[in-house]
Amino acid sequence: MEIAMRMSRRHCAAVLAALWLFSLASAALAAAPDGKALYATKCAMCHGTDGTAAEMWSKKGAPNFNDAAWQKGKTDDTIAKSIVDGNPAKMMPSYKDKLTADEIHAIVKHLRSLAPSK
Ligand code: HEC
Repeated sequence: MEIAMRMSRRHCAAVLAALWLFSLASAALAAAPDGKALYATKCAMCHGTDGTAAEMWSKKGAPNFNDAAWQKGKTDDTIAKSIVDGNPAKMMPSYKDKLTADEIHAIVKHLRSLAPSK
């Protein structure tokens, strides 16, 4: 009886520890910025939900993010730098003071997901 009690108490502690770890993990997930949502609200009006730039912006030089050659030609760092610096002369805004590094990272990840599937 005594042993059974001790065992179940230990079991209970293990379950609590697992729940605690799980809640930590889901809190971390919830805190990660949503690149897709950020892109939809801040970028899609010019760059298109699927990465096809709207005509008036492609005339200004906006590439299609769903183009394999574009995806291949850019590193994540180059893309992040374009987002930070922008190119105001061509109407690409600078997001230096508007997005955090984490948000930009999440958006770059989303841009990568727009690449055509091979
Ligand atoms: C007002 C329209 C507009 C908005 C909003 C906008 N962009 Fe742009 N973006 C452009 C244009 C136009 C260019 C081309 C500029 C150039 O030729 O240098 C561009 C260029 C870029 C480039 C560089 C492409 C390359 O080939 O080097 C990236 C990356 C980019 N935009 C990402 C984004 C992201 C991410 C957002 C949202 C956070 C965003 N843009 C919001 C219009 C816009």
